Amino acid sequence: SPLHALLTSMPKCEHHLHLEGTLSCELLFSLAEANTIPLPSGPEFASPAALRARYAAFTSLDDFLAYYYIGFSVLLTASDFEQLTYAYLSRAAHENVRHAEIFFDPQGHTSRGVSVSAIVEGFQAAAKRAAQEFRITALLIPCLLRHLPVADSKACFESLVAAGHFDARKGGEAEPGFAGLGLCSTELSQPPAHWAEIFAAAKSKGIRRTVHAGEEGPARYVAAALADLGAMRIDHGVRAAEDDAVIEKLAEQGVLVTVCPVSNVCLRVAKSVAESPLSVFVDKGVKFSLNSDDPAYFGDHYIQDVYCAVEEAFGFSIEQWAKIVRDAVDGSWCTEERKAVIR
Ligand code: HPA
Ligand code: ZN
Repeated sequence: SPLHALLTSMPKCEHHLHLEGTLSCELLFSLAEANTIPLPSGPEFASPAALRARYAAFTSLDDFLAYYYIGFSVLLTASDFEQLTYAYLSRAAHENVRHAEIFFDPQGHTSRGVSVSAIVEGFQAAAKRAAQEFRITALLIPCLLRHLPVADSKACFESLVAAGHFDARKGGEAEPGFAGLGLCSTELSQPPAHWAEIFAAAKSKGIRRTVHAGEEGPARYVAAALADLGAMRIDHGVRAAEDDAVIEKLAEQGVLVTVCPVSNVCLRVAKSVAESPLSVFVDKGVKFSLNSDDPAYFGDHYIQDVYCAVEEAFGFSIEQWAKIVRDAVDGSWCTEERKAVIR
């Protein structure tokens, strides 16, 4: 489509990208060897190509997450996280992403003896280099994990606070810090209310909050993320479209929904990109951004591919694209000064 070149040139922001979800099969195998980490013995671990083929056959969020957390096992050093962050930021910058807010799962690393400070150190080294070379900015958002006990989330959150990671809302280009707090992993049977006390504590400390909801879970989990957790953004949120009252609430509160239509197809949340409720969001005034989620696990479809797939499925006008891109900048958690530069 002739619009694809325009979509490439537009200044984009990405808000829903898991750092660990950018680990390619090739890098997974090479880090496993470098760090002497044994991989599982199944036939899908015979080679990077075999693993890639297994990734093409995910049947659900939990089926994906099992492989996703095996991927974590090869990440050990600050340098591993620097390599991962730099590769993503350089690719994103070449697709005209100007600002990225990057999720990571602290509990998936500290449980293996990898410290949050090693991750942050690697991230910051890469973010500083990418800012200088490509003028892209990046912030981190730690996500608490729903498949683990709430007490584990609480201990994780408290240790992040105690270490000062949320302090001073650094947010600048010079010293990229944490932009807010997230919640992800398994959704079904994990109602948001279980994390209410932790999210109330975050709110009282002035920490921004975003929640994965309405991916596999029902529309009422999106409503609960807003009401019980004070979520300021909703990650995925596509099943909100099943309940008009929830859609109205998202519109009324001006909440940005960080949609990942290609991820939804790969995890069987939707049969096609065209099934994503973006027309409902447009018609009802729900703001959204378009994102890649875990591109290395979802056919290597980074943000440019996501924008093009949406353009092909929905045929949005140039004016509609301008609004989508503007809502993404406005809904970012960088400084107002930075937003003005991006716009
Ligand atoms: N949903 C929930 N948890 C996740 C996802 C997702 O799409 N990607 C990585 N962790
Ligand atoms: Zn996600």
